[in-house]
Amino acid sequence: MARFPFPIPFGWYQVAFPEEIAPGEVQPLRYFGRDLVLWRDDAGAAHLQDAICPHLGAHIGYGGSVKAGNIVCPFHGWEFDAAGACADIPYSDRVNRKARLHTYPLVERNGFVLAWYHPFAAPPAWEIPVIEGVGDPAFSDYITSEFTVRSALQEMAENTVDLAHFQYVHGTDEVAVVEAYELDGPFNTMLSVQKYVTPKGVVDGRIDVHGYGPGFSTTHFSGIIDALLVATSTPIDDETAQVRFNFTVRRKPDGSVPRLAELFVAMINQQMNEDIPIWEHKQHLVVPALADTDGPIMTFRRFYSQFYAEGDHIHAAPDPVASPN
Ligand code: FES
Ligand SMILES: [Fe+2]
Repeated sequence: MARFPFPIPFGWYQVAFPEEIAPGEVQPLRYFGRDLVLWRDDAGAAHLQDAICPHLGAHIGYGGSVKAGNIVCPFHGWEFDAAGACADIPYSDRVNRKARLHTYPLVERNGFVLAWYHPFAAPPAWEIPVIEGVGDPAFSDYITSEFTVRSALQEMAENTVDLAHFQYVHGTDEVAVVEAYELDGPFNTMLSVQKYVTPKGVVDGRIDVHGYGPGFSTTHFSGIIDALLVATSTPIDDETAQVRFNFTVRRKPDGSVPRLAELFVAMINQQMNEDIPIWEHKQHLVVPALADTDGPIMTFRRFYSQFYAEGDHIHAAPDPVASPN
């Protein structure tokens, strides 16, 4: 039995950092269960396309090259433009209009290269906003940690509303108190108050999470530290994900990063490493046995089911009326 019955959800996903792909560069990537090619044209715009050349199947990410605004297949030199159309066949007078590379909508924002994935190539259904604080000189550059996890995105995201696990998996004495859990189309917000036990006594802090679809979220921490965590989760395939934690921390007046920030980042990363063994071995129970003090698990699942374009076979209510045909 599959450990989780989910297809890959649609949404905006980090596929790279902007500095990883220079003008004229071509890179193979593997996300969404697909072979992809990421390239940057000579004018500086990045592009993400399916990598398998429609001519005779070469992977353009291995040995392909950029020629001005086009990408060139290494096998027979066919050129494709940024929209995926065949732009030139060097040994033929005519192009092949049917030969196309599927092209993914791409934006560079908040220090990421973000691509829109949809299994049926529907256009973006929302945008990722510019996040306040990112790129602000009062805050540090990203401190990034990467994790590869054998799990589905939904399973990992469910932790946000699984309040009880914090005490048992992470050993936190004080469980956050949720002030608000709001769902608005593809966006979700969870505002909470967290007590931190410090040598100077208990300090009240806040943890405020904003999600922008399945692949992108921000968490603002305040109280003992003023930090922003921008987390991106990208499906490699339907049972493996790449997670990147990007922290930016308010600098001290002298411009340095507070020592506490390192400890804080280490603590959050440790929490991730505590979660991973649970995620990698658990099964998704469609009908879980819940305690009445569990968090809003089923509300979360109904919300999340909107990201499955293939249809939600799990939570769809049975049709109450037999159809008359
Ligand atoms: S396989 Fe790409 S040009 Fe022939
Ligand atoms: Fe956790």
